[in-house]
Amino acid sequence: MAARLSGKVAIVTGGSRSMGAATSRLFVDEGAEVVIADILDDEGLALAEELGAAARYVHLDVSDAEAWSALVADTVARHGRLDVLVNNAGVYRRAMIEDTTHELLDLHYKVNQLGVFLGMQAAFPAMRDSGGGSIINVSSISGLGASIAGHAAYGTTKWAVRGMTKYGAREFGRHGVRVNSTHPGFIDTVMLLENSEETNDNIPNLTPLGRRGTPEELARVSLWLASDESSYVNGAELTIDGGTSV
Ligand SMILES: NC(=O)c1ccc[n+]([C@@H]2O[C@H](COP(=O)([O-])OP(=O)(O)OC[C@H]3O[C@@H](n4cnc5c(N)ncnc54)[C@H](O)[C@@H]3O)[C@@H](O)[C@H]2O)c1
Repeated sequence: MAARLSGKVAIVTGGSRSMGAATSRLFVDEGAEVVIADILDDEGLALAEELGAAARYVHLDVSDAEAWSALVADTVARHGRLDVLVNNAGVYRRAMIEDTTHELLDLHYKVNQLGVFLGMQAAFPAMRDSGGGSIINVSSISGLGASIAGHAAYGTTKWAVRGMTKYGAREFGRHGVRVNSTHPGFIDTVMLLENSEETNDNIPNLTPLGRRGTPEELARVSLWLASDESSYVNGAELTIDGGTSV
């Protein structure tokens, strides 16, 4: 059977570790050439070396518009095209609204919201010129509801990701560029260390499937959205949460 991403070129932001690393690994396994973009240089370089010739690491702060333009131009120059962007980079800090500082709001805005917007803006023309593409914006169950207190700064950026996905789907669709959002629940990554032990211990009770998800379970959904198997899926929001948000 042919690899599911054969001939495709992908950028995965926040690709150095956790869900981004699992996604980069699976995409390479399925035949894609992958640009791992992150600010964690050591981890990103090590992963690219492990994955071999089909992977390359590039330092990218997703909140830097000029760096995005340079990354996309360099990707097209080296790989000839751009087919897939996974806007996965994110930050997560908890605070109740009354304790939320402007710095905390600004941090979430810059990475989670502006970063996704700039990625869509930079990738779209290159994908249109490549004959189409797929943008996957990683939101959260915190972008679907407000089920967890202390998520206002984080969660509102994830609501914005969900909204930007719809506008992207509306504007880019006629050029064959699809935009969809994924909404992970509790996935076993470094990010969960931000939660209290009590919250993490309670995950099985909050989740109908009774456990955390794995980065690979999220990566497999991104693979489907990146591949032509999802060719008529545009503007959708997919939960990968074991049922937490039902
Ligand atoms: N883990 C979960 O339970 C969970 C749940 C819902 C949504 N998410 C979302 O999934 C995505 C991946 O998170 P994860 O769980 O793998 O966490 P993680 O913290 O391990 O990974 C986040 C990655 O983003 C990178 N990053 C942070 N700021 C950046 C910047 N300015 N520019 C480029 N890269 C930057 C980090 O270096 C890191 O590699 C995030 O968008 C997160 O909000 C995670």
